[in-house]
Amino acid sequence: MANSDVALVLFFVLFVGHGHSHLQAVQSSASATQPYRTGFHFQPPKNWINGVMVYKGVYHLFYQYNPNGPVVDGIKIWAHSTSNDLVNWSPHEPAIYPSQPYDINSCYSGSATILPGDKPAILYTGVDSRNRQVQNLAFPKNLSDPYLTEWIKSDKNPVMQPTVVNRIDASSFRDPTTAWLGPDNRWRVAIGSKVDRQGLAILYKSKDFVNWIQSETPLHSANGTGMWECPDFYPVLVVGQNGVDTSLNGPFVKHVLKVSLDETKHDLYTIGSYDNFKDIYRPDEGSVEGDSGLRYDYGKYYASKSFFDCVEKRRILTAWVNESSSVADDVKKGWSGVHAIPRKIWLSENGKQLVQWPIAEIQKLRANYVSLANKPLEEGSVIEVSGVTAAQADVEVSFEIKDLESAEVLEPSWTNPQLLCSQRGASVKGSLGPFGLLVLASDDLKESTAVFFRIFKGDNKYVVLMCSDQSSSSLDQDNDKTTYGAFLDLDIQQHKLSLRSLIDHSIVESFGGGGKACITSRVYPTLAINQAAHLYAFNNGTQAMNIAELNAWSMNTANIN
Ligand SMILES: *[C@@H]1O[C@H](CO)[C@@H](O)[C@H](O)[C@H]1NC(C)=O
Ligand SMILES: *[C@@H]1O[C@H](CO)[C@@H](O)[C@H](O)[C@H]1NC(C)=O
Ligand SMILES: *[C@@H]1O[C@H](CO)[C@@H](O)[C@H](O)[C@H]1NC(C)=O
Ligand SMILES: *[C@@H]1O[C@H](CO)[C@@H](O)[C@H](O)[C@H]1NC(C)=O
Repeated sequence: MANSDVALVLFFVLFVGHGHSHLQAVQSSASATQPYRTGFHFQPPKNWINGVMVYKGVYHLFYQYNPNGPVVDGIKIWAHSTSNDLVNWSPHEPAIYPSQPYDINSCYSGSATILPGDKPAILYTGVDSRNRQVQNLAFPKNLSDPYLTEWIKSDKNPVMQPTVVNRIDASSFRDPTTAWLGPDNRWRVAIGSKVDRQGLAILYKSKDFVNWIQSETPLHSANGTGMWECPDFYPVLVVGQNGVDTSLNGPFVKHVLKVSLDETKHDLYTIGSYDNFKDIYRPDEGSVEGDSGLRYDYGKYYASKSFFDCVEKRRILTAWVNESSSVADDVKKGWSGVHAIPRKIWLSENGKQLVQWPIAEIQKLRANYVSLANKPLEEGSVIEVSGVTAAQADVEVSFEIKDLESAEVLEPSWTNPQLLCSQRGASVKGSLGPFGLLVLASDDLKESTAVFFRIFKGDNKYVVLMCSDQSSSSLDQDNDKTTYGAFLDLDIQQHKLSLRSLIDHSIVESFGGGGKACITSRVYPTLAINQAAHLYAFNNGTQAMNIAELNAWSMNTANIN
């Protein structure tokens, strides 16, 4: 059962709503006593959370919630909020909570599927009275209720369970995906599992969504990865940024299988092909399946789920970001865990990775625009970006690198970007870099989180390293200050490199190279809080460069629950 309690659920469903905005004057959600509470990231008023869904014009967020406190241990229920814009959220009564022998010990993650006739169905994992993980089904009580507030559990539950015949490990059988329809008109759903350290996406099929039959072969498996939590399986178009329905297949799509690795708490994905006659997914040649493979986010980002937003024709990714503070601090704050800003995701032009970008709606919160253009960034310079509330801001910057030739050589052994970033943090001078942003910084720079790049000369190409260095993020030593890193797969020949950071008191979500590498970190400054927080651009490399353009905004506080 190790850590099954952090399994996340969720799905978005979109129902027709009345679009109205809730902009307020620029104000901060945080206060002197709550400097870490976020202003535009989803959090319930209190207690421990982890996860996120959409259907017909109203977005529904169902998330894992511990009703009893801001800690991971304890039962989990499905809390529920709705939104018209994925930015402002209204709370509802919990959608699903333990009530029957098949879910009496917890209601873990799962997914929603929209059945023909616009009828949503939820499949979720229940922990039954014998502490076995089983899969259960629930339907809305009243389809005319746009908020889908009440859910009725199927009297056929559990609809999938471990048996002596299938020999599924009853403590490792959870988090059903959104279901997809095959050419034979049967539904398919994948469920996370393992056998020893082999990760498994067990496949079930059904004609009626109620009676499910396990397939002989899993959708996919990989040795040496450990348990797969919250699997997510969906098609992406080969060309363009639009999203497509989960059931779509054909020569114009590739498939993505994401798994949340329980052992390392990282969300890894591969891109590949799905044979919907054999019901087998095969990652593309050269894909890495272990912890060194492709990650949605190279910082803190777990138990993510995507959904197809049929209204805006996009696929949206949401995830849970946990705290880096101590349990004692979480208890003192009274809450733990936030949701990442929903991201639009699509396949990159070269087909080798996904690209992610904050949903456009978040820009409604922008205020107090400031900008810089064509500003030299000499060796050792630190330039303040003033005029925005730096503790709650959105900043986009594009750096222009004049002389790529002066890049340092990348040693062949430097294959681990996180390690490289922690050995060469913001205070280690290089040639091309470190350069980037200092966010949530105090005016004396005793505290700051450095989000930056270094450019190296690799074999036949330049290699861009992106880092988020938390080592100086807080004078409080009682936090996890791991430094994170990622390699950015892009062609630097055009001499431009962009970075966007969404800064919200205790979370920084950064997007390098237009969303080709993302790093989310949690930080708890003691000086750089609220109005005392500053934002800077810096260059600690020996080579001068330019800020081609920098645009920054204060972010208004969203109306959340
Ligand atoms: C179903 O929801 C609609 C819309 O909220 C409401 O008017 C109707 O009374 C509800 N029906 C029942 C049986 O509760
Ligand atoms: C995975 O491990 C199992 C059992 O150890 C072995 O039978 C199987 O061939 C391995 N599969 C791969 C793809 O290495
Ligand atoms: C939660 O945070 C802790 C401390 O930073 C980290 O060790 C752990 O892996 C995180 N868990 C998840 C699920 O991200
Ligand atoms: C730049 O490097 C110097 C020397 O290593 C260091 O003292 C300073 O803190 C660095 N600047 C930043 C922003 O990290």
